[in-house]
Amino acid sequence: MSIHKDFKKVTTHTLLEMKRKGEKISMLTAYDFSMAKVIDDAGIDVILVGDSASNVMSGNETTVPITLEQMIFHGQWVTKAVQRALVVVDMPFGYYQGNSKIALSSAIRLMKEAGAHAVKMEGGDEIIESVTRLVNSGIPVMGHLGLTPQSIYKFGTYSVRAKEELEAEKLRTDAKLLQDAGCFSIVLEKIPSTLATEVAKSLEIPVIGIGAGSGVDGQVLVLHDLIGLTYEFQPRFLRRYMNLYDDMKSAVCQYIADVKSVDFPNEKEQY
Ligand code: KIV
Repeated sequence: MSIHKDFKKVTTHTLLEMKRKGEKISMLTAYDFSMAKVIDDAGIDVILVGDSASNVMSGNETTVPITLEQMIFHGQWVTKAVQRALVVVDMPFGYYQGNSKIALSSAIRLMKEAGAHAVKMEGGDEIIESVTRLVNSGIPVMGHLGLTPQSIYKFGTYSVRAKEELEAEKLRTDAKLLQDAGCFSIVLEKIPSTLATEVAKSLEIPVIGIGAGSGVDGQVLVLHDLIGLTYEFQPRFLRRYMNLYDDMKSAVCQYIADVKSVDFPNEKEQY
């Protein structure tokens, strides 16, 4: 099943409308042309050019090392392929924290050079000045609370966040601040589902969850996890729809065997 060609492009307003109607929002990551084309043709609502490209594409342990230039490359490849989905590009670590003017110039590069339709930033009250500056400049911003991987060295682990009331209360306050500052949506990552449901109900803007249960307005996963390419990563919240690592590996093993045995190419596969 895939989308019809008479589709309407997804905008930030579409997402707000979906929340109002109670229609769930689907979101996946993509970092390149080929993968973005498949998921856009399949009808995904939002494509996130996530800084998880740092882990998935570059093999880094964290999202900290990825640069703005690298995010621009990934964004360009994705936006070239996409016809329908809203494309959100992550602001990488070090290009927005602590200075809203730097945040604005980074976001402008993502919009102009990568063709982003919106940007995503991690954090709450610490980044409100930047969110306000971007929104006032016409740049749609998606927030990101809960487990924020750019702060991994502060947290020390990738375990569930906001289990304690103090952190849960900060998250509730931050979510409201982000909405009031003009964010069109918020990602909540790896927090208790009761808290995520409560926050989603309390906000007018859509809340997209990853490891945040089913009571939110939509779900996001890293595409490479969903298709089973990152086979070592197995958090509880992940549903794998394929085991592409195994399938690809056995295809390549077969190809190697065919080349060695001169089974490939056969007579029909040559000129
Ligand atoms: O970079 C990313 O892939 C993300 C998602 C996990 C939400 O931020």
